[in-house]
Amino acid sequence: MVRQITKDDMYDAVAPDDFAAMIEVDRYAGRATAFDKIISATHDHFWDPLDKKYIDFDVSFDLENEPLIPEDFVPALQTKLVDEHLSGKERTRFINEVARWQISAILHGEAGALALSASLVHILRDQGAQEYAANQAREEARHVTAFSKYIQSRWGAPLPCGPTLKTLLTEMVNAPEVYKKIVGMQMLVEGLAMGAFATFFKESNDPVMRHLMQLVMTDEAFHHKFGKIWADRTVPHLSEEEHNIVEDWAAQCFQTLLFNLVNPEQMKELYADFGLNWEDVMAAFLEVATDDERRKRMEESTDIFRVLIKTLLNAGIITDRTRDLYATYVNMDELRAEGDTMVGDAIAEEGIGFLQRVNFGKDEAYSLNARATAAE
Ligand SMILES: [Fe+2]
Ligand SMILES: [Fe+2]
Repeated sequence: MVRQITKDDMYDAVAPDDFAAMIEVDRYAGRATAFDKIISATHDHFWDPLDKKYIDFDVSFDLENEPLIPEDFVPALQTKLVDEHLSGKERTRFINEVARWQISAILHGEAGALALSASLVHILRDQGAQEYAANQAREEARHVTAFSKYIQSRWGAPLPCGPTLKTLLTEMVNAPEVYKKIVGMQMLVEGLAMGAFATFFKESNDPVMRHLMQLVMTDEAFHHKFGKIWADRTVPHLSEEEHNIVEDWAAQCFQTLLFNLVNPEQMKELYADFGLNWEDVMAAFLEVATDDERRKRMEESTDIFRVLIKTLLNAGIITDRTRDLYATYVNMDELRAEGDTMVGDAIAEEGIGFLQRVNFGKDEAYSLNARATAAE
């Protein structure tokens, strides 16, 4: 039995196969205006991954000799086992294969976001909300193309989706409940993505990757806002029982994402390729990953779990019921004091400036591209 939790008419939903409800005469009367600005902004930050004036995937990178990302972003290298096992070119290859796995996970996430926003079009009755979702689907489609092109240019093909992420994405895409889709995808996966993109943007050694991250972020910053609007209009009106349902779903998604990112079982083929057994790597992880160390890593404001927790906290979804689950990883009071500026907003804004110049101006059109290359 499907249970929709609807507190604002603009999120009213029908069953995915109930197209008849979409052509009922009455339903055309309703069109929320809450998303109009996001929908019209899409023209300002338009970009095309197949057009070199926005991004050039033919710029090469020396994968054999240069690591794409710093060693800090490869948790396995913090363990004694993996650290001592790999050196020289094999170590560089390992770092770059981990980066390939991470970017592939992002690509699968983008495919999930595309299918999910399209699925919202099938169930949301409000025309404004539907147009928002259709617009997001279009933007997610270009992210799928862009990450596919990037992976092709660097490695030829992506790595398969880890089983945990695959299960979660499938559940969200197929869920008929609006709250599951919005909390799971718009708030958590999109929040995780913003944190990951910001990190890659700041730390990657590859100018093409950095530029790609910034372009994607110009779109994602708005997707994240859609989740925030839902939360603002829904969370304060939930009954205790409804709040528990939403809070538990958020905690379940959070734990799944955390597990996917840190558990070596999710990338066992990759370890095998380097002569490492994933169970040994897991044991090595348990030796070093004390909560204190994790907490230290989380102090970086771009830390992806931190971004996730902040998203849920600002939305009012976390209460004392599940607080301890998150407090293990981050100082909750400190996080609350930071307010609701999201990591990555400034990067996205700068990216939009670049796109406005490319789309509407002539002079500085290539400056950001040039800057990304010059910073190398
Ligand atoms: Fe996306
Ligand atoms: Fe998105």
